[in-house]
Amino acid sequence: MRAFYGRALTDPIIGFIFTDVARLDLEAHVPTIASFWETILLGARSYSGGAFHPHATLNAQVQLRAGHFQRWLLLWHAAVDELFAGPRAEQAKSHADRVAFAFHGRLQTMTPAPEGPLTGLAITRHGRPGRGDR
Ligand code: HEM
Ligand code: HEM
Repeated sequence: MRAFYGRALTDPIIGFIFTDVARLDLEAHVPTIASFWETILLGARSYSGGAFHPHATLNAQVQLRAGHFQRWLLLWHAAVDELFAGPRAEQAKSHADRVAFAFHGRLQTMTPAPEGPLTGLAITRHGRPGRGDR
């Protein structure tokens, strides 16, 4: 977890969401996230649920797109693979994939402009109008 968050917070693609948007206090966040993972992976029942809600709040501030989730997962898979191997490591990765997929799907139903494969890409023109525009 610390290996993951150390990188996530400094990541060029998703880091700003933690540091600038959520202004996450990592030390305060660690116990919650640890209980989330020990509930999923180690049979503890310390996490009471409701993981989606803070992401909905976040999404209202900065739209969490497929690319953000892909980046999150890439960093998570890399951190897990560097430190662990075996069935629990596989579970840590596959469960994260499912949660990310589910979160993204739920967020899209809440976001005004649903994100299609190419939405968010706009064709823009730069510079002053020239002859070609007439
Ligand atoms: C040992 C078995 C499992 C445990 C203890 C477990 C635990 C959890 C926990 C604690 C959450 C967060 C829920 C929340 O915060 O509201 C979650 C979310 C989720 N899990 Fe699992 N899980 C298990 C197996 C599975 C399996 C087998 C699947 C799918 C085949 C799955 C799919 C999901 C999905 C899609 C979510 C996100 C749901 C959402 O909030 O939209 N889980 N799981
Ligand atoms: C774009 C991807 C994501 C971003 C930017 C992100 C960011 C954040 C931030 C900033 C918080 C703290 C929110 C707050 O307390 O105000 C948070 C909480 C949390 N995140 Fe994520 N997250 C992402 C994806 C995921 C995924 C895929 C999972 C699970 C596999 C996950 C699991 C959690 C959990 C368990 C919490 C704690 C929720 C609680 O307070 O109970 N996040 N996330």
